[in-house]
Amino acid sequence: MMLNLKVSAVVVALAAFVAANPVLLQQPLTSESVNFVDDVQAQEVCPQSEPRNPTKHNAFLEGPYHAEWIRNKTIEALSGAVQIPTESYDVMGVPGEDARYEIFGVLHEFLRQEFPSIHKTLKITTVNTYNLVMHWQGSDASLQPVLLMGHQDVVPVEPATFGDWEHPPYSGYYDGTWLWGRGSCDDKGDVISILTAVEGLLIQGFQPTRTFVLAFGIDEESSGREGAGKIATYLESTYGRDSFAAILDEGSGFDDKFGEDMIFVTPSTSEKGYLDVRVEVNTPGGHSSVPPAHTAIGILSALIVALESNPHPSTLLRSGTPFSTIQCATAYGPNVPSSLRELARRAVSDDDALAKLAEAVVELSPAYKAMISTTQAVDLVSGGVKVNALPESVSAVVNHRIAEHSSLLELQERITAVLAPFAAKYNLTLTAFNTPITSASSSSGSLVLSDAFGNALSPAPPTPLDAEPWKLLMGTIKASLGESRHSGKQVVVSPMLALGNTDTRSYWNLTRHIFRYTHLGSMDHYNGVHTVNEAVRAEALVENVNFLTKFVLNWDEAALP
Ligand SMILES: *[C@@H]1O[C@H](CO)[C@@H](O)[C@H](O)[C@H]1NC(C)=O
Ligand SMILES: *[C@@H]1O[C@H](CO)[C@@H](O)[C@H](O)[C@H]1NC(C)=O
Ligand SMILES: *[C@@H]1O[C@H](CO)[C@@H](O)[C@H](O)[C@H]1NC(C)=O
Repeated sequence: MMLNLKVSAVVVALAAFVAANPVLLQQPLTSESVNFVDDVQAQEVCPQSEPRNPTKHNAFLEGPYHAEWIRNKTIEALSGAVQIPTESYDVMGVPGEDARYEIFGVLHEFLRQEFPSIHKTLKITTVNTYNLVMHWQGSDASLQPVLLMGHQDVVPVEPATFGDWEHPPYSGYYDGTWLWGRGSCDDKGDVISILTAVEGLLIQGFQPTRTFVLAFGIDEESSGREGAGKIATYLESTYGRDSFAAILDEGSGFDDKFGEDMIFVTPSTSEKGYLDVRVEVNTPGGHSSVPPAHTAIGILSALIVALESNPHPSTLLRSGTPFSTIQCATAYGPNVPSSLRELARRAVSDDDALAKLAEAVVELSPAYKAMISTTQAVDLVSGGVKVNALPESVSAVVNHRIAEHSSLLELQERITAVLAPFAAKYNLTLTAFNTPITSASSSSGSLVLSDAFGNALSPAPPTPLDAEPWKLLMGTIKASLGESRHSGKQVVVSPMLALGNTDTRSYWNLTRHIFRYTHLGSMDHYNGVHTVNEAVRAEALVENVNFLTKFVLNWDEAALP
């Protein structure tokens, strides 16, 4: 994923909060405060469904031989896939022309050997040369297909860090616990898990009633343009608009940070928006020996100071995803102080409590604050070519992640409003997002605001939570955790807002029911993703395959369109 938030930032933040917040801890943690709140009340603010197992197809989940086959196949196939370095880079050409894509052909050949039943039974289409789309026809064509996704590409390994890896990044080494290498977590683990689940069902003779489609892109780690962007067009023209019952992509997983007895699961049901704004100042050049009071660089500096002095407000809305996450965490978390629990409970109907809760959330951590605000980060700056020449054109790029409750338009209007007084002050003609705003009476240059790279993205439409697909996912997660290493623990499934974006950004036209979830715990990653020592706990990945198998079977017998 583009942003390594597989480990739920929310959970970490709340756990840290519980440990560190001085105000809330003035109230001691009495035995009363660590009790679960009343189940009926908790169920109101954070509804939980029962574990869900397939009934018709249960036989496909049983059998020790099959369990051993899944384990062997998962480890062998992931190890082999990691050894094929399908790196994607920020600047790449077109598949079929840029030779750096050819390695994806090697991966495809490997998958053909590892998953023979899939290659015999499913209809496989390559889109834009190297994207894989696999169609598994169900017997009832009136049912909407379910889409399972992942991506084949990995972020490159920084050559200087090769020596820091405990096992080489493209070794695919399995040490008996961890499977090592770039892509083991992000995202070949998901791709191999999906393929192993389907292959396992096929070799047992399972024939689906519902159609399932698998789609694996090639550039999620860069733009997604040659990958998911092209797959989306293919899927929409092949299956139609709003034609899928649900989509499952990579995403956040679960954690036990609230206490060892509770597993807190956070599938992302929403994603923040995205906009890189270029702030460009153009002024007349000239010799540095006769300078104006403010050069273009000086003016740009004033603009940057103005932006950082005006951070975007934090807003906690009852209708938003972050509010739901807070309700789930505070309603069930054994370690949550009762004062915070009560504040969250009152915030359901009391506006003062809601405002106080928003303040408490902002104090939690930068990650939590980011969930309820649009963020801005001045990440690039350029200007000036020579010490005796006045700079003529200088610019900065400000990265924004747009809050769920906001929009591209609101962000554009706000940044324009913050900077417009400076255009007036320095006599600059202002153009914002292709629209002329003001022209200075005696213009001494221009201020131009624009979408820097043309990859603006609105916040994702939130997935409906009062609908069956969410309940099916929740029930499948609960059933899977119930028979895993975590059996016996309380499981709470909470919706979450993702701070970064996955390939699903291209798939909004296919369904409203989009889930970004990988059935792995934070304890199942040896280190982070996109860094050294990426490794996944093999046992956990086997549980991911079992979860996916159950997800397919549950969908196959669900009484849903
Ligand atoms: C799993 O692998 C082990 C070790 O290679 C092998 O002995 C066993 O037969 C395999 N089991 C299955 C079901 O493929
Ligand atoms: C802007 O223009 C006005 C005249 O229209 C002038 O008096 C003022 O000095 C100019 N300011 C700057 C910063 O150039
Ligand atoms: C969804 O459909 C709209 C309208 O046809 C189109 O403009 C948009 O580009 C599509 N979105 C994606 C992500 O393909």
